[in-house]
Amino acid sequence: MTSLSTSLSGQKILVIGAGRGIGAALADRLRAEDADVHGTTRDGRAGARLDLGDEASIAAVAAQLGDLDHVVMVGSDPHDAPVGSLERDGVARAFDAKVIGPMLVAKHVAPRLRPGGSLLLFSGVVGWRPGPSSVVKGTTNGAVSFAAAHLAAELAPVRVNAISPGIIDSGAWDRLGAGKTAFLEGAAAGTLVGRHGVLDDVVDAALWLLGAGYVTGETIHVEGGARLAR
Ligand SMILES: NC(=O)c1ccc[n+]([C@@H]2O[C@H](COP(=O)([O-])OP(=O)(O)OC[C@H]3O[C@@H](n4cnc5c(N)ncnc54)[C@H](OP(=O)(O)O)[C@@H]3O)[C@@H](O)[C@H]2O)c1
Repeated sequence: MTSLSTSLSGQKILVIGAGRGIGAALADRLRAEDADVHGTTRDGRAGARLDLGDEASIAAVAAQLGDLDHVVMVGSDPHDAPVGSLERDGVARAFDAKVIGPMLVAKHVAPRLRPGGSLLLFSGVVGWRPGPSSVVKGTTNGAVSFAAAHLAAELAPVRVNAISPGIIDSGAWDRLGAGKTAFLEGAAAGTLVGRHGVLDDVVDAALWLLGAGYVTGETIHVEGGARLAR
């Protein structure tokens, strides 16, 4: 039987947020697959400059790159505060990075996507696991999942999907310093598979999803069953 999944070799792929963490690891793997990878960061250090809170920068990168096969958006600017301490600017930046920015990316790149093209958004497990100070992150992650479905319906046949990672040792948690080990152990205990995630868990899922021509409007949960664990 012939696989309908597409090779990513030679495909022109924009990775927004390619400077570190999951975005950097994904860009590296895509290059290893011989994809034509174009990365962005907010300061331009990994290629072009693009801020998901700045529509002009989105439009400029879209115009500069022209036709594309896939666009991956990993941007996240969390505002992990209790409700009583929410700051409007922090909430707005979080929604810009995860929800509003990706919608505007869709606006500017969808007309330039080649047949078989797709958009890949990033959600996260907190959307399905409410806890202390989770209201902004959880709501943005939930909105990403809904945005993927709605964008998929409106932009068809362009495929639009989301990945919802669990706790991944992506480098983002290094900021916890000495507390990182205990945090990751706690995250592992909160899964069905008994471990935290590593970069390859998410990168493998992203590579499959970019080439999965019969999958659209979906959120793929890469979190070891964390939504189901007690
Ligand atoms: N790691 C985890 O445990 C985990 C868990 C659940 C969900 N996720 C999701 O997976 C994705 C990647 O996670 P990660 O661990 O790699 O995150 P990370 O290391 O914290 O990186 C965050 C990324 O977001 C980019 N970014 C932030 N605000 C932006 C903006 N306004 N415009 C453009 N880019 C912006 C940063 O770009 P600059 O380098 O330019 O600042 C950086 O590339 C995120 O969406 C995150 O929410 C991760």
